[in-house]
This record gives sequence, structure tokens and C-alpha cells, in this order.
Amino acid sequence: MSERLSAGQSATAEPAPSAASGGGADSARGDDGAGSADGAEMAGGARPAVSVRLSVPGAAQMRQLGARLAGLLRPADLVVLAGSLGAGKTTLVQGIGEGLGVRGPVTSPTFVIARVHPSLRGGPDLVHADAYRLGSRLEVDDLDLDADLDHSVTVVEWGEGLVEGLASGHLRITIDRPATESAAMTGPPAALAGGTEGGTEDGTEDQPRSVTVAGYGARWESAAGGLRLALPGSAG
Ligand SMILES: Nc1ncnc2c1ncn2[C@@H]1O[C@H](COP(=O)(O)OP(=O)(O)OP(=O)(O)O)[C@@H](O)[C@H]1O
Ligand SMILES: [Mg+2]
Repeated sequence: MSERLSAGQSATAEPAPSAASGGGADSARGDDGAGSADGAEMAGGARPAVSVRLSVPGAAQMRQLGARLAGLLRPADLVVLAGSLGAGKTTLVQGIGEGLGVRGPVTSPTFVIARVHPSLRGGPDLVHADAYRLGSRLEVDDLDLDADLDHSVTVVEWGEGLVEGLASGHLRITIDRPATESAAMTGPPAALAGGTEGGTEDGTEDQPRSVTVAGYGARWESAAGGLRLALPGSAG
């Protein structure tokens, strides 16, 4: 159950987006002083079999991306979501849930660690977990998360470096918030500043995100072509 991946020998490997993904997760966790800084390392230095990067302008488009991804997902698939606080991980999972046709609503599972959304149409259930408070792989094992994995699509927020051993391959989706120009021009995001001016009901406005979808292991080696076709982004 805790076999590490060996996707590194893939002949079709493309450059790993490790710099962006590691940086995003590390900086966010660093803010809270929690978690480890070894996300990229824990991927075993493995290169993804396929990697697509795309720009997502707003929350609605993030849900659409999730729905499109859902069309590629099968029972036993594992999706690991990385990205700083408020990056849009749960928003993406909402789209995945819609695309899979599971019972909602999909909300942040922060206080329950994991939640199962049963399929409404005979497909795989969605297991939505949040590993933010988990400090080690041991604790993840303790959750018995793998009980339903063969019949479910499992999506884990903050799971990078913790849960990859639950499956023989995984999709790692890294959401980066390009903080550069927009942050300098507009100051901190409204949600972080506690303001709601001109924003949506939860105080946030649409802001572009950079999303990297990387597939690891034989599962995504064979599905690489389908992934590239389904996602309107740039490879690499
Ligand atoms: N391009 C975008 N993609 C996704 N969400 C966006 C985008 N622009 C703005 N948002 C807003 O950012 C917020 C993202 O919240 P969400 O709960 O999905 O983040 P999260 O990564 O799950 O956070 P956490 O780390 O706390 O779990 C939402 O309020 C959403 O409306
Ligand atoms: Mg979340």
C-alpha cells in the first residue's frame, strides 16, 4: 500500500513542474509553521508521464476545468491537489463533483478530514479529503482512506508528499496564484484582508490562476494523450 511511484523511467516524460508546485505548497505551509517542506522531494524526484499547464481566469472556469477532468477520471484514481490557502482547490473539486455526478454539496472538508460523495448515476463515488492538518503519512494511513479507493475517485487537498502511496499512480494538480503584478497593484486579496469591496459573497474576486496538471505512473502514461486532448493548455 505504500509503494512509491516509479514513473521516472517514462520515455515520454516531460519536465516536472516541481519548482512551481513545491514553492506554492511550501510557502503556504510555511506561513502556518505546519507541515513539511518536502512536497517535491516526496514525489521521489519522479518526472510526470504527462504535464499540462493552463491559465484559469476565474472560479467558474475552475469548476469547468474540474468537470472536464472528471471525464477522464476512473474508479481508483487518486488526485492530489497542491496550492496555497484559498488557491481554488475546493472550487476545482466542486467541478469534479459536478462532472462525476455525485451528491453534493462539495465544501471544504477541513473539520472532517474526508467526506464521501456518493455517485448519483452508478459511477465512482467521490472521496474528498483535506490533509492540511495531517503531519505525516502515518496519520493518513490511520484514516483508513483506502477502504473505498478502488470504487472511488479520491481527491486530497494538501496531500502532496503524504498520500501518493495510496495508489500506483496519481494526478497532481498544482494551483498557483500569480501574486506578482496583481498583488502589487491591488494589495492583499480581499478575503485575507477581511474586506468584501466589489467582490463575491465570500469576499473574493475572480483572479487568474496558473494550473499545472501532472500525471504520474503507468495509469497516466497510458492516458497522457487523452489528458492533453481534454485540457486546452500547453504541455510541459
Ligand atoms: N481563478 C480562480 N479559480 C478558483 N477560485 C478563484 C479564482 N479566482 C477567485 N477565486 C476564489 O478563490 C476562492 C478559492 O477558495 P477555495 O476554497 O476553492 O480555495 P482552497 O484552495 O480550497 O483553500 P484552502 O487551502 O483553504 O482549502 C473562492 O472564493 C473563489 O471564488
Ligand atoms: Mg479547500
